[in-house]
Amino acid sequence: MKIAVIGTGYVGLVTGVALSEVGHSVTCIDVDPSKVEKLSQGIPTIYEPGLEELIKKNIVEHRLSFTADHKTGLKDAEVVYIAVGTPQRKDGSANLDYVEQAARDIAVNIDKNIVVVIKSTVPVGTNFHIRDIINQNTKNGIHVKIASNPEFLREGSAVKDTFHGDRIVIGSEDEVAGDILEAINKPFNMPIVRTDISSAEMIKYSSNAFLATKISFINEIANICESLGANVEEVAKGMGFDHRIGPDFLKAGIGYGGSCFPKDTNALVQLAGNAHHEFNLLKSVIEVNNHQQTLLLNKILSRFGSIKGKRVAVLGLAFKPHTDDLRESPALVMIPKLAELGADIVAYDPIAVSNARKQIDVSIKYTEDLNEALKKADFTVIITDWPAVKKIDLSLFSKLMRSAVVFDGRNCYSLDAVRKSSIEYYSIGRPDHTPELIG
Ligand code: UGA
Repeated sequence: MKIAVIGTGYVGLVTGVALSEVGHSVTCIDVDPSKVEKLSQGIPTIYEPGLEELIKKNIVEHRLSFTADHKTGLKDAEVVYIAVGTPQRKDGSANLDYVEQAARDIAVNIDKNIVVVIKSTVPVGTNFHIRDIINQNTKNGIHVKIASNPEFLREGSAVKDTFHGDRIVIGSEDEVAGDILEAINKPFNMPIVRTDISSAEMIKYSSNAFLATKISFINEIANICESLGANVEEVAKGMGFDHRIGPDFLKAGIGYGGSCFPKDTNALVQLAGNAHHEFNLLKSVIEVNNHQQTLLLNKILSRFGSIKGKRVAVLGLAFKPHTDDLRESPALVMIPKLAELGADIVAYDPIAVSNARKQIDVSIKYTEDLNEALKKADFTVIITDWPAVKKIDLSLFSKLMRSAVVFDGRNCYSLDAVRKSSIEYYSIGRPDHTPELIG
């Protein structure tokens, strides 16, 4: 099948590359010529394990190309995917400007009836709105059919998720468009859920909102565990054995971030509001998460009183490991607060430093060397559970830091290991370890 994908962000690029890998002929279109130039040379514009090899392979095998020109990219396409961003507006709703622009670009550049697939996460009703924009702007009576095909990839494991996901959701307005999409997706060999368009749009928001709810739920349990002397990891393990609950997404921590959960939970609250429904449960999920992101700060202040002039090692900047993405990362909340309180900050991340420099406007030091960050620090704050941080020998904290006080926002270490070490340790939802208060 000849396919065009508009937008080469996380969703568009991974989708385009994956579709070419299973044998389709794919042209990815992006308005940014510098991105197109890099991608055409096989250089990925995002960090995603396994992606570079697939881009290179499919370019060489002539199934994948990139262009900044819509006319070239849409020529002969039988199916066009829209995978542009839907960032959050100030009021929490989804900004559809890029999706609408993609619709107008499609309308003026196609010369036959095609199927348009919306991959971007869009509020319920948007697919029909986009179909109407296209059909009102085409020439010679050309019209398109629309289908919704939300994506469920996670950053950092997007390639793996594409080929080994749990399901593919296809919402279509008629059987023909749905059948075409089903045929395109057959090689992925995953359960396919066929449904109507509005339900498909809603499945995406509901899935992300439910996962965010699981995280805020376990974070609240963690906070209660702390007051009652229980251990949230033991609690989550015991809960997770019940197959109705499941063990996934029950990891307590410093709160969820990223480009999806914060944006999509806010958008769903808005969407519900527009339908005159107060989504109080989801509002609480968001509130719990906002509070969770600053929780460590309270622990730091109750331990030290003032942190003015203290040197702090911040371990991790990305919102989660295996990505260089800082969007809605707890680091963006914690670092300015620590700076405001007068701390002298050295931040470590193996790959997100250059993105961090663009997004953090307080003056701090950056390093990609873990040891360098820990050197002479008065305390450490763990934001991201990078493998390098998780597998650290705990004696390194004592060896390199001025005082080995660790505030762990990701529960990186077992309490057994911590008790055998000489570090002073505060984590989330688990008993503190204060051998003797250091310093
Ligand atoms: C999320 C969903 O998991 C994907 O299915 C979806 O396709 C994607 O959003 C999207 O809408 O595009 P992503 O944001 O890439 O994917 O990352 P996740 O692995 O889901 O993690 C999100 C956040 O939750 C991270 O900050 C992570 O640290 C946090 N998290 C996750 C927890 O705090 N605890 C957990 O148990 C799991």
